[in-house]
Amino acid sequence: MTVRADTLVLFGATGDLSQRMLLPSLAALHADGLLPEDLNIVGTARSDMSDIEFRNFARAALEKHLPAERRGPLADFLNCLHYQPLDVTTPENYADLAEKVGKDRQVAIFLSTAPSLFKPTIEGLAAHGLAGENTRICLEKPLGTDLATSREINDAVASAFSEDRIFRIDHYLGKETVQNLIALRFANILFEPLWNARLIEHVQITVAETVGLESRVDFYDDAGALRDMVQNHMLQLLALFAMEPPTHFDASAVRDEKVKVLRALRKISPGESVTGQYRGGASVGEIVPGYDEELGRDSDTETFVALKAHIDNWRWHGTPFYLRTGKRMQRRVTEIVVQFREIPHSIFPGAKVKSNRMVIGIQPEENITLSVMAKVPGIEQEGIALREVPLNIAMPDAFSGKEKRIAYERLLLDLVKGDQTLFVRRDEVEAQWSWIDSIRQTWAEEDLKPKTYGAGSWGPSAAIALIERDGSSWHE
Ligand code: BG6
Repeated sequence: MTVRADTLVLFGATGDLSQRMLLPSLAALHADGLLPEDLNIVGTARSDMSDIEFRNFARAALEKHLPAERRGPLADFLNCLHYQPLDVTTPENYADLAEKVGKDRQVAIFLSTAPSLFKPTIEGLAAHGLAGENTRICLEKPLGTDLATSREINDAVASAFSEDRIFRIDHYLGKETVQNLIALRFANILFEPLWNARLIEHVQITVAETVGLESRVDFYDDAGALRDMVQNHMLQLLALFAMEPPTHFDASAVRDEKVKVLRALRKISPGESVTGQYRGGASVGEIVPGYDEELGRDSDTETFVALKAHIDNWRWHGTPFYLRTGKRMQRRVTEIVVQFREIPHSIFPGAKVKSNRMVIGIQPEENITLSVMAKVPGIEQEGIALREVPLNIAMPDAFSGKEKRIAYERLLLDLVKGDQTLFVRRDEVEAQWSWIDSIRQTWAEEDLKPKTYGAGSWGPSAAIALIERDGSSWHE
């Protein structure tokens, strides 16, 4: 679909995501002249507000969540905003929304409401002419809690929108550094010949957070780390890292390749996963409560997971992918570590030759570091001395002067433009769930319970053992 939208409808416009991410992203795009000038933005939510009241609400959110230097002249942006009160379960309310949107518009609808409201919302939209050919819809996670519920959501959406008009968000795909993974792999000749099991011994993907439950107690306790982080963000990173070269950077080609990787994921065997739950302790300079204390009850939900994954295809046979993610970890870091194999034969007796390693830092530091062996300057009695040195590209230095963008900026703009490349296709999300379901089934069979770990640590010791028993260690 290439027709540009001229109206953007935000469901959940007064919610947390809207205040922290969506409105700031739209205002920043507007300030940079990237939003179409004639774009109307219609917020909807249950609260009764006028356009003016919604603009005031948006102004307060922008003052809080968008740095002053990115705001631009706010009045111009605020004038694009309109508001329509709407209770998604009240069918008549959609007629008012349709009237507010107006006739013959190209409409993009963003649902940032609870997934339980997707179905009635879609029915309401379809019944009032807001789901036709000139309408596209964007959905926020969680898209289900397993394959069956994800299919239910997908079926409900598909009853009113064709797949080329459905935009499923994974905000990691909006991150510049995640897109840079595609550039790194396919805009350089250097890496592709190395990108396979013959030369890569293993890959580590870490998404470590220092935050705890935040304000999402019930949601998180139902989800856990596997469904909250691995099913979506981590599998997207893995798929982009491991996919075959797509023929084009477009929605079909990229998503075709990602889905092949996701379908090639082998079912995890018993012993290939570790789960954990944090206990109270010192975390980034403060004493924080344990998960059960934050929750106010006992729970078996995992706040940490480590997995040893395998991709059953020719390229990756024999290269394990170690994944780990957790809350209340020692440091916030998202990175991919590529551990290359040993050299086949050393000509330097007595000197230790360490295998090369590449670390792709995604956040907070955006660095790519390649460790290479070099000669230590000086004269030795015999032979030469070697040491590992880093070849370092610091992205912020390479592109100084470029603003750091919110991931949603790119995604909202692509939604308005109708470009699905950075959105998740139905077969992808279902392949993700199918692998996640298989892990949960293994856990149930093993009766796996989360091991405890101290807040501010790197997770339970069993996660360290998971990789160490293969002769490697997590990168820190
Ligand atoms: C969300 C998860 O999808 O991603 C959160 O629900 C998590 O639990 C967040 O904190 C992490 O996103 P980011 O962009 O801060 O890495």
